[in-house]
Amino acid sequence: VASATEDDGMAGELVISSLPLETRCPPFPLRRYGGFWFAEPMLPGIAAVRARFQPRPSDVFLVTYPKAGTTWLKALAFATTNRVQHPPRGPDHPLRHRNPHDCVHFLEMAFAGGGEDVLAALPSPRVLATHMPYPLLPARVAAEGGSGGRMVYVCRDPKDALVSMWLFTQKKLAAEAIGGDPPKPYTIEEAVELFCDGRAICGPQWRHAAGYWEASHKFPGKVLFLRYEEMLRDPAGNVRKLAEFMGCAFSGEEEAAGVAQDIVELCSIDALKNMEVNKKGSQKYMKNETFFRKGVAGDWSNHMTPAMAERLDKIVEEALQGTGFTF
Ligand code: A3P
Repeated sequence: VASATEDDGMAGELVISSLPLETRCPPFPLRRYGGFWFAEPMLPGIAAVRARFQPRPSDVFLVTYPKAGTTWLKALAFATTNRVQHPPRGPDHPLRHRNPHDCVHFLEMAFAGGGEDVLAALPSPRVLATHMPYPLLPARVAAEGGSGGRMVYVCRDPKDALVSMWLFTQKKLAAEAIGGDPPKPYTIEEAVELFCDGRAICGPQWRHAAGYWEASHKFPGKVLFLRYEEMLRDPAGNVRKLAEFMGCAFSGEEEAAGVAQDIVELCSIDALKNMEVNKKGSQKYMKNETFFRKGVAGDWSNHMTPAMAERLDKIVEEALQGTGFTF
């Protein structure tokens, strides 16, 4: 779906400062690499993953475009794979005192921040998260021929992903401005303009999703393609799919006991939002509370005009022509 080109720095050693630069998309400068735009601080980690990450056949990768439901997927996958040791109704369940991002590591962040050894020391099967686009995965991980495990992708309507990221960025800018100048203005018009041009973290968003969709069709046993909107409509059904795909399907006994539904409830946005750790704690760049907003489909219509939506839909439709993939 996306071919890497030499001007995107894919040939030879990665020299970040030589990559095409975009400075209009806060909070980080973006650089284009392998046909996608990345926040500059992500790139050393991505390069290190490509160079050194050693996958295991039992690994499960949780893959998302930012703001497509990463936090939810991490919570669901963590609760599902650890349900024997940590029953979802248990009052001491780790998700009741740890943010989902503290339960499942991001591959590229671990590699950027000296956490490689932590990943290497994790027992199998490992559950790891990444925002890396399919064409940038090292061949060792890719579904075709790679030795590294399975991937679960969650895709979301581009308009909702855009609006969610725009609002998240506003919060980040406001947090950075505390005690100083008013936050830098960043309008929805600016965000739409950049997003339509693919200039957003890990953008173009539609190309990110299409890469995994295509892989899920070619290698259905290796890549599971889920949709955020479908997960909202039928969360328990999607948790069952996830469990089966990860090799830990619910037993008849568990079904009778309602374990899938217990996981759905533990990981619901309302339950997670109200946990103390998610009201007070924080990740490297953001407070935990900022990862939980509305969690609905179609909220874009409260922030984008119909003309903006039409423009983006048309760009996406044209870009996806001939791929067989639609949102
Ligand atoms: P909104 O801003 O549209 O509400 P990510 O986790 O990839 O950063 O995505 C964040 C989006 O997922 C936000 O969307 C957030 O509210 C939503 N979200 C977070 N936790 C969720 C959950 N448990 N269930 C459903 N949506 C969730």
